[in-house]
Amino acid sequence: GFIRARDFDNLLHIEELSVSLAFQGQGVGRRLVLTAIEHARREQMRAVTLTTFRDVPWNAPFYQRMGFVEVAPGEHEAHLLDALQKEIEHG
Ligand SMILES: CC(C)(COP(=O)(O)OP(=O)(O)OC[C@H]1O[C@@H](n2cnc3c(N)ncnc32)[C@H](O)[C@@H]1OP(=O)(O)O)[C@@H](O)C(=O)NCCC(=O)NCCS
Repeated sequence: GFIRARDFDNLLHIEELSVSLAFQGQGVGRRLVLTAIEHARREQMRAVTLTTFRDVPWNAPFYQRMGFVEVAPGEHEAHLLDALQKEIEHG
């Protein structure tokens, strides 16, 4: 599995998280996200952000259990608006 995250103005944004089908459901995805959170804490970054799917029922709860909260539309950081726009463009 892998996680790719980028620094946007001292915010760590998780762009992609993927675990090989044969290894899913064994805690790898969770450990990858927790490692990114630990890295952000160590570097004293402002927050960790990501976008996820509303229509995959377990996605949001998975992130919420690790402490993520949904951001209201008016509170979006610029990099999140860009990320959402790119996702819309890619269908
Ligand atoms: C999403 C993904 C990265 C999760 O990785 P993983 O190693 O399978 O996840 P984990 O084993 O750490 O489990 C993470 C949580 O998701 C839940 N989960 C994982 N796969 C699930 C499934 N198919 N159905 C229901 N729940 C699932 C687990 O219950 C677990 O919850 P918990 O640890 O809080 O109890 C992996 O399934 C994947 O690569 N999917 C395809 C790519 C993708 O959708 N990426 C974008 C996600 S926004």
